[in-house]
This record gives sequence, structure tokens and C-alpha cells, in this order.
Amino acid sequence: MAARCGWRSVYFLPLCYRAGAAPLRRRWELPNHGVSSQNRGNRHISSPPSPAFAGATYTELRELCAREPDTFWGSVASHRLTWSSSFQQVSDCDLNTGKIRWFLGGKLNVSVNCLDVHVAKDPEKVALIWEKDEPGTEERVTYRELLEMTCRLANTLKHHGVGRGDRVAIYMPVSPIAVAAMLACTRIGAVHTVVFAGFSSEALAGRIQDAQCKAVVTCNQGVRGGRLINLKATVDAAVKSCPSVQSVLVAQRTNHSTPMGKLDTPLEEAMSKESAECAPEPMDSEDMLFMLYTSGSTGKPKGIVHTQAGYLLYASLTHQYVFDYSPGDVFGCVADIGWITGHSYVVYGPLSNGATTVLFESTPVYPDPGRYWETVERLKINQFYGAPTAIRLLLKYDENWVKKYDRSSLKTLGSVGEPINNEAWEWFYNVVGDRRCPLVDTWWQTETGGVCIAPHPAEEGAEIRPAMAMRPFFGIQLALMDEKGKTITGNDVSGALCISKPWPGMARTIFGDHQRFVEAYFKPYPGHYFTGDGAYRSKDGYYQITGRMDDVINISGHRLGTAEIEDALDEHPDVPETAVVGVSHDIKGEVAFAFVVLKENVSEQQGKVIEELKKLVATKIAKYAVPDHFLVVKRLPKTRSGKIMRRILRKVAMEQTDSLGDVSTLDDPSVVMEIIEEHQRYKSRLAKA
Ligand code: PRX
Repeated sequence: MAARCGWRSVYFLPLCYRAGAAPLRRRWELPNHGVSSQNRGNRHISSPPSPAFAGATYTELRELCAREPDTFWGSVASHRLTWSSSFQQVSDCDLNTGKIRWFLGGKLNVSVNCLDVHVAKDPEKVALIWEKDEPGTEERVTYRELLEMTCRLANTLKHHGVGRGDRVAIYMPVSPIAVAAMLACTRIGAVHTVVFAGFSSEALAGRIQDAQCKAVVTCNQGVRGGRLINLKATVDAAVKSCPSVQSVLVAQRTNHSTPMGKLDTPLEEAMSKESAECAPEPMDSEDMLFMLYTSGSTGKPKGIVHTQAGYLLYASLTHQYVFDYSPGDVFGCVADIGWITGHSYVVYGPLSNGATTVLFESTPVYPDPGRYWETVERLKINQFYGAPTAIRLLLKYDENWVKKYDRSSLKTLGSVGEPINNEAWEWFYNVVGDRRCPLVDTWWQTETGGVCIAPHPAEEGAEIRPAMAMRPFFGIQLALMDEKGKTITGNDVSGALCISKPWPGMARTIFGDHQRFVEAYFKPYPGHYFTGDGAYRSKDGYYQITGRMDDVINISGHRLGTAEIEDALDEHPDVPETAVVGVSHDIKGEVAFAFVVLKENVSEQQGKVIEELKKLVATKIAKYAVPDHFLVVKRLPKTRSGKIMRRILRKVAMEQTDSLGDVSTLDDPSVVMEIIEEHQRYKSRLAKA
């Protein structure tokens, strides 16, 4: 075979495709502190992120990242990623204007990095274990098979007119064909937007319209917890209002036959007619890779944009170091691909590292509360990564549901998406992990691309504190800000959590609205990325997340803007005004509490209107967004300028009325007592029910 580098040959000869000529090949030098690293009591990293860092300790690498980020990221990017053209410049960023660009001039293809390079080394290695809803029916897909599936799907997309830069909505639960659909988009340079398959048709339509998607990939039905969900029917309803959609590709998850319309194509049948090879499109580092919609404190969900090289590099690096992944491990992240966790730690992180990744289709309690741990035993999972809400649910059951399964394969446990309370942390660590597996509480966001704060990486044997994310990842420089926008120095302090230096995995923009991107993330604290979260820095410098500082709530680890729920409620013709706040819930973490003002003539039919409101939220957003509580009030607490004081409503809903704070700016402070009394009546009605 001719040793020729290029797209045609890369499929067969991926090693020659590796960028040997990246500009930053100079040997990294240990910082000179007058002591050798051996004398510092720190161990060398056994598998450094780049060979240039052989012999370094974690502390030294952190120091290097802070001092010379381009040296660190340049070396790691040339070593870890497979490029078709080397990059010329490591970064060009300005956090004041929201300009973020990494690995300029470089070209690569994400699917080559996730598939071809591994197929060349070990084609029969298992890439995916599809843990289907029924226990014991798992299916394995090798890297060779996944590449073939991806190419056939990519060719199918091409035949339907999808090309470079076109957007494709993926509305399907986690499954090999969904992963292949994501990778097929990357193969041909199309941009995927995966929409969580629990969202309603209106929510799906809103995302398709905003992204102007050309195609939708879905499946006839979803299967979860023994129930069938008619996904195709939801897509049919959505695309009626989406003129940009030219085709709907429908995979067959169940035997149920779905009526096919003129836009529809049976996916597997179409794929079988396509070639199993598809030349990868060389993409610029900064071309769009995917967009993912997430909630903010105001307005409609925003399409967060991630680009090719920086995102992939960050997902890959964090996957290895935060979870101590080693080659050969079976990585079990139980998130859905509809969320960023599924993107980074079910798909891109593990596949870029050549790992075997688990696709979990079921629920933590199907068919019984031992499901996770039975799966761990059967699949011999080494890293288990899940959400606190599931842990809080499971700890209510007998420990025997855990203990009866062999969990000796487990090496690392991880938690994500919301604060993990002490009780859940202790149970996860003690009962599931038998006090021998490090439990990493990982903090990050859709916008950050990958984990930014986590107990790992740390020097071997370093302490892990319960329910604390603790340490910034390589290259993440954290800052806490006070109310005046000044950096808070010292320890044992709390403030607004910001990141002061750019990192490759960070989002690049909001699709179609760069101004909103700048306003939301860079305006509040100029020169810094503002996360929207508050944090505490302990006496010894470790970080703990204290929660959102804006009107975003977190229901079972799913992020939602209270404004989105209010917008849905406000569409009811008998409801002139609403205000929604988050209140704590012992399993879901938070739930929505809606304060509703009704028109006078309907106050007799409260029950009926509330039922209609619940339906509205389920139809406009998703079932999980339906408020758990509705309180009908005569009026809402407003300032003289007409702004609703949600702070007071939150206190009332949380029954913390002895710490209401300053109410003097209210237009009429007597409204507070009125609402408190209404809330007390509501509580006593609940107690009687
Ligand atoms: O408030 C933080 C919370 O989840 C938000 C990000 O949500 P999303 O973009 O949907 O991504 C979730 C999965 C990465 C954050 O602003 N959050 C995430 N992880 C943690 C957390 N809160 C506390 N502790 C965490 N470990």
C-alpha cells in the first residue's frame, strides 16, 4: 500500500495521517523551582497527556497550563488528535468580546478520530455496548461495525441532500444508530442537534426552526422502563411547522409499523443500499461540530455551538483524567445523548479514546432498583457515571439491591448535573463503591464542553472530600466575584463562579445570536466567563458549588429556565400572570412551583384551569417541566417599577418566611402576607389530601 497521506489513504493508513509536524514540538521543560520534581513528594503522571510531559507531576502540569496555556494545549492537541493539516496557531481568544478560537489553520475529521484510528489498530474491539431496556439483551458493536454503520448513514444523509454545514436534528434515545447518526454528521461536515427524546413536539419544532434543520433522524418508537413511546408521531407533529425539513429518516427500534409520509425514509433500508465507505470531510478546527439547546434565565432555549478540534480534545482529555480511564476499561455513563453529558461522556470522550462505552436505554428502577448494579456486574463496568437524582431515589431502597451484585469491576464513580447532597454521596461511596472507589463530583455545563471542576486529576492518593467538586481541571482558572464585580481573593469565601482563561472545550457562540452569547457569559464580569453558578472556596482552596444565581432551575438534573415555564403558562387565556420558582425536592433536587393569577370570572374553576395548565407545559416543553405545585394568588409581589420579586416567592414556597429580607421596595408590601396565608391554606389542603 502506498504510504501516501490524504483522505483516501487515511482510511487504510491512519498512522501516516497523524500530524507529526505540528508547530509546537519543542520539549517541555519543568519549571525551575530549585528542586527536582522527585523531591516534592509528588508522583510522576504514569500516562501523561502528551509524551512531551513525561516525568511531570500533576502539580507541575497545572502550573504549566496557568503560565503557558498555548504550550500545554498545543502539545496535547498535536499528540492526541489526528490531523489532516497541522494547526498554525494554538489560540486566538478574547474573553471581553467572546472571541474564542483554537488550533487555527488545522484540519481534521471528528469521526476519523473516533473511529478510523481505532479500526486501524484493533477493528474488533467493542466500541458500544447497547444496554437495552430489557436486562440481559445487550448488543455489542465493534469499532469496525460502527465505522461501517456511520459511513452508510453518512451516505444516506448525502443522498438526501445533506452536506457540509447543514443542520440535522436527531430525535432518538440512546442507541447505536443514534451514535452513528451523530458520527455520520461529523463524517460529512453536517452539524447535529440532538433533541432529548422527552421533549414535546412544540419544543422539538422550536429547535428545528431555530437551527433551520434540513433533515431529522428519528426512530419509530422508544422503549423505556417497559413502556413504548411513539417518537415518530411527535416528529410528525413537529415537522408540520418546519418548512426547512426536507427529509425524515426513520429507524426501526420496535416491530411496530409506523405510517410513512412523503418526507419519510426507512433508515435501515436506505443504509443497506449505501456503500460502507464514505470519505471523511476535512473540517477546519473552528467549523461547527454540533449545537445543543439549553435553557437560560430569559428567553427561549439557546443553541449552544461547539466546534471541532477544541471540543473533541477537551472531551477526550477530561474523559481520561477525571475518571482515570485506562485502555481496556468499560466506561458506563448512564446519561441520555440528548444532554451534553451524553455527548461528551457517552460518545465523543470515550470513542476518541478508543474505549468501550455503554449506551444505557433503561431507567434506574426497571425492572427493579437493582438495575444499575446488575448491569455493572453483567457488563463489568469500570467507571460508573450518573446523576444524584437517581442515587437519591435508589438509596431509599434496601441496600441488598446493591449488595447482591458483584461490583468488583468498579474503579471510579462519578456524579454530575446537580449538587450531590452528603447523604447521597455517602451512600454512593460506601454502599455502591464499598469505600474503595474514588467518587468524583464533577461540575460543568453544556457551555463548558467537558468537566471543569472535579476531584481528579489529582496526585495519587490525594484526598477527596464528600460532595465537593474540589479542583479545577488542567487549564481552568477559576475566580470568585463579589457583587461589585471584583475578584474575591483568599479562602473560606463565596461568590459568583467565573473562569478567567479560555480553554479549548468552551462554547463558541449561541447559534444565530452572538450578541446574546456575549451578554450572557462575558458582560457580567468583563474578561471572564460567567457560569451562572455560585461557589464556595474552602479554607484550603477547594471549590464547592452552591447553586444557580439566576432563574434557572434543575429538575432531576435537567436544566430549565423558569421563564420558559412561565411563557407556557401565560398562553392560557384565563391566566393573566404567573411566576415560577424552584423549590427543593428530596429526590428530584428541585421542582417548579407556580404562582398563578387567574381572571376574576374563572376563580371558581381553579381545578380545571390547573389541569389545563399542566397539559400546556407538557405540550409546550416536556412532562418533566410540569410544576409540582400550583398556588392561585390574587396578585404577585412587584416592585414599583413592575418587576416581580421572585426572591420573596421562593422564600414563601420554601417556607422560609422568617428570612424574607428587604420588602420595602415592593409597590404594596401587604401582598406578602396575602401570599403567605394562601400558601398556608395550600399546605393544609395538601396535608389533608
Ligand atoms: O448549576 C450547575 C449544575 O448544572 C448546570 C449545568 O447544566 P447543564 O448545562 O444541563 O449541564 C449538566 C451536565 C454537565 C450548572 O450550571 N451542575 C452541573 N454539575 C454540577 C452542578 N451543580 C452542582 N454540582 C455539580 N457537580
